[in-house]
Amino acid sequence: MRPYRTEVIEADAAAIDRAASLLRAGEVVAFPTETVYGLGADALRGEAALKIFRAKQRPADNPLIAHIAEPSALEALAKRVDARAERLMRRFWPGPLTLIFEKTGLVPDAVSAGLSTVAVRMPAHPVALALIRAAGRPIAAPSANRSGRPSPTEARHVLEDLGGRIPMILDGGACGVGLESTVLDISGERPAILRPGGVTFEMLKGVLPDVTMDRAVLAPLEGGSEARSPGMKHKHYAPRADVVVVRGGPDAVAEKTAKLYQEAETAGGKPYILCSGPMADRYAGLCVSTLGDSPEEMAAGFFAALRALDARGATLILAEAVAETGMGLALMNRLLRAADFHVVDAEA
Ligand code: TXA
Ligand code: MG
Repeated sequence: MRPYRTEVIEADAAAIDRAASLLRAGEVVAFPTETVYGLGADALRGEAALKIFRAKQRPADNPLIAHIAEPSALEALAKRVDARAERLMRRFWPGPLTLIFEKTGLVPDAVSAGLSTVAVRMPAHPVALALIRAAGRPIAAPSANRSGRPSPTEARHVLEDLGGRIPMILDGGACGVGLESTVLDISGERPAILRPGGVTFEMLKGVLPDVTMDRAVLAPLEGGSEARSPGMKHKHYAPRADVVVVRGGPDAVAEKTAKLYQEAETAGGKPYILCSGPMADRYAGLCVSTLGDSPEEMAAGFFAALRALDARGATLILAEAVAETGMGLALMNRLLRAADFHVVDAEA
């Protein structure tokens, strides 16, 4: 791969125009969205999309999300848009909801990773929308991290992972949601959440009472079973440290976490505790990273915290489990993957 001098540039109107020219020329550019930073390329050109896979070192069987700036742009990408999809788009676009449709012949195989379906979303971020409009085409964009690393929620995270591998990063500050979009498969009979995100299960139920959740959302795939969303089968969101999720009531979790912490320290490790604001008070004198009080605040800081703990040389991250409702479901989905499903029951 030809090395680049990666430019990190504040996302003003002139920078967005330059980024759009790069995209039109078949190049890749990283840009902010309301969820995480994306690594974009022309979604209608296979060779452009392939550059994304090379820069990220992404497995070729993991399809990309096509980003659009108005719902009408969906026509070129999706074979059929039924009444259900129309309702979802009216209610949740622009926003952190990705919909899976049967694809048209315009979507290159590189984007759909050979599947007959395509994932599409309209992001709720002024820079992302301006960039897509200026480029004048749908933009394929996975998260702008090195494959397997925590998703980037700030421009400097993208630089850490992809510096020298892409020409430009548009800096739009920190992402508000902090976890990737909800992926909802509506290509079949029964709508199914393949990845939970900022548009929650409860919110979707309000529009689609029969929506289901794929079992891979909170459980490891069993040997031999097919991933409905190829991204689910790859190890994901992982910091370099081992992550253990501690589950149970607050007293039991505090006691168990402190015990595991002491054991790791005695063994010469460098443990850290990752927890909500209210729990942090219980760990006086220990190394703690506090994520905030609400599931939304915790989600917004989660990936940045994993990166920061790596930078501090953590060998073990003891993470507090959260309730699997609302944004908590998306956070637990990422936490369980970062932990490779290593969960300790503090009540046991
Ligand atoms: O919030 C987001 O969705 C961010 C920003 C940049 O928009 N993008 C993002 O992309 O998270 P990525 O590639 O990291 O995650 C896309 C997920 C993967 O798990 C992939 O397997 C799944 O969506 N996906 C894409 N196309 C699919 C398809 N046709 N069928 C099933 N799953 C699909
Ligand atoms: Mg990703």
